Amino acid sequence: MTDPGGLPVPDAGPVIEPLGPGDIREVMELERLCFAYHWTEEQFRLGLERGAYHILGLRLGGRMVGYAAFSVIQDEMEIMNLAVHPEFRRRGFGARLLDAVLRHSRAAGAQQGFLDVKESNIPAIDLYRKFGFNQIGVRKRYYPDTREDALLFRCDIP
Ligand SMILES: CC(C)(COP(=O)(O)OP(=O)(O)OC[C@H]1O[C@@H](n2cnc3c(N)ncnc32)[C@H](O)[C@@H]1OP(=O)(O)O)[C@@H](O)C(=O)NCCC(=O)NCCS
Repeated sequence: MTDPGGLPVPDAGPVIEPLGPGDIREVMELERLCFAYHWTEEQFRLGLERGAYHILGLRLGGRMVGYAAFSVIQDEMEIMNLAVHPEFRRRGFGARLLDAVLRHSRAAGAQQGFLDVKESNIPAIDLYRKFGFNQIGVRKRYYPDTREDALLFRCDIP
């Protein structure tokens, strides 16, 4: 990579920023790559326009390689989606995104966080546990695609 004067530019690190309706196309590409049963463009658009949730995107050299969608209602945050491009996993990006979600939701007044995750999703469960999430329940055959159980997790946001 070079700058306009032709000088080499050092590789930029990952940048995490709030996304808006103009970013939905890129989010959808990731969504399709990461989830068999995924959200529609309309769901993302309506949610963002109505302020129902926030989306943070992680870009590397301008390319979106991860995102997290979450809501904050009063003192409760809920993670709806968190995904990293398959070719960019195990580089700490999921952890950076989750850390950013917790910081943003704390700033928005959240004191506890919730999420559900497929019981077979070991990478995600491992990541959530590292950030202080503990299992508080199970929803039997919750997911429409695999009929798998959902594990419900909660954490304090100090
Ligand atoms: C879950 C996911 C977001 C993790 O992203 P990632 O960028 O690979 O995660 P990181 O590199 O930041 O890893 C952080 C921690 O997560 C856990 N982890 C990540 N991938 C793992 C794997 N394949 N197996 C076990 N633990 C894993 C580890 O504890 C890891 O810490 P470590 O590297 O010190 O061992 C990613 O695997 C993904 O997008 N999966 C598909 C979408 C999904 O299932 N999302 C969750 C929906 S609830």
